[in-house]
Amino acid sequence: MKTYDIFLDYYDKIVRSINNPIEDEVEFLIEDCIKQYKPETKTILETACGTWVVAKELIKAWYKVTGLDISERMIEKASENIENSIIIPPSRSSSTPFGKGRNKTELVLADMTNFDLWKTFDSVLCNYNSICHLLEWSQWQAFFEMAYKHLEKDGLFIFDINTVFEFENITRDFAQFYTFWEDTVCLEMFKKDGIYEWFVKIFKKSDDNRYDLIQEVVRENSFSINKIKKELKDKWFKILEMIDYHYGEVTAQSERVYFICKKK
Ligand SMILES: C[S@@+](CC[C@H](N)C(=O)[O-])C[C@H]1O[C@@H](n2cnc3c(N)ncnc32)[C@H](O)[C@@H]1O
Repeated sequence: MKTYDIFLDYYDKIVRSINNPIEDEVEFLIEDCIKQYKPETKTILETACGTWVVAKELIKAWYKVTGLDISERMIEKASENIENSIIIPPSRSSSTPFGKGRNKTELVLADMTNFDLWKTFDSVLCNYNSICHLLEWSQWQAFFEMAYKHLEKDGLFIFDINTVFEFENITRDFAQFYTFWEDTVCLEMFKKDGIYEWFVKIFKKSDDNRYDLIQEVVRENSFSINKIKKELKDKWFKILEMIDYHYGEVTAQSERVYFICKKK
């Protein structure tokens, strides 16, 4: 079973609604990032697009968005969220020219550390700390290369991280409970072998009025801001701005940091 397979049924409500209202984030992405640094953007590749909550709003703002995610269930849910979409399996995206469903919204089932869509985009986006799902530094490096390869010259690369500071805080303090219908969801984070692990426990009411406990682990990792900056520069990106999503200025206490970069 892949990450998020169980948690998915609650994901949008908890992660993209209660914890982080999507409207604020989309306004930030459009107004403070895209319009400011690449206003001519028409095409966007959203890597790790999840259930399409962000892309849906970007499409309303008239951008042509292609989504990519490693999770079949996420991609299926994304396709339910958009009319006229087509799911492209990894074999097609890596071996044949992409773009057959030209009039449709394309969703690609692929690993963001290794894919080839045979075309470039004005902007590549990876948001809501999705990059932190790549546990090894070599995977972050591979993803930066994929973003570079799929961008136009001067294209915009926008992604955000949960900082090490934030993960350490969550690991110390965090336990959250949510109730949906008659189910309860509990989220806790622990650190194991240098990796941050979300323990998702779902107490799900069964037809005979008992509660089944269903569990899933979602693993994340992060690296120092200096290390990321150096790698981006080595990979021929110019860093236009780094923004603390909550407070603006990036400090040692920043929890969530956006990187806005341009392909040189
Ligand atoms: C925290 S969710 C964010 C989803 C979406 N970006 C949003 O803003 O709601 C992380 C997503 O990353 C995807 N993901 C994790 N590892 C991936 C990989 N190697 N390649 C592509 N997607 C990946 C997961 O399937 C999941 O949909």
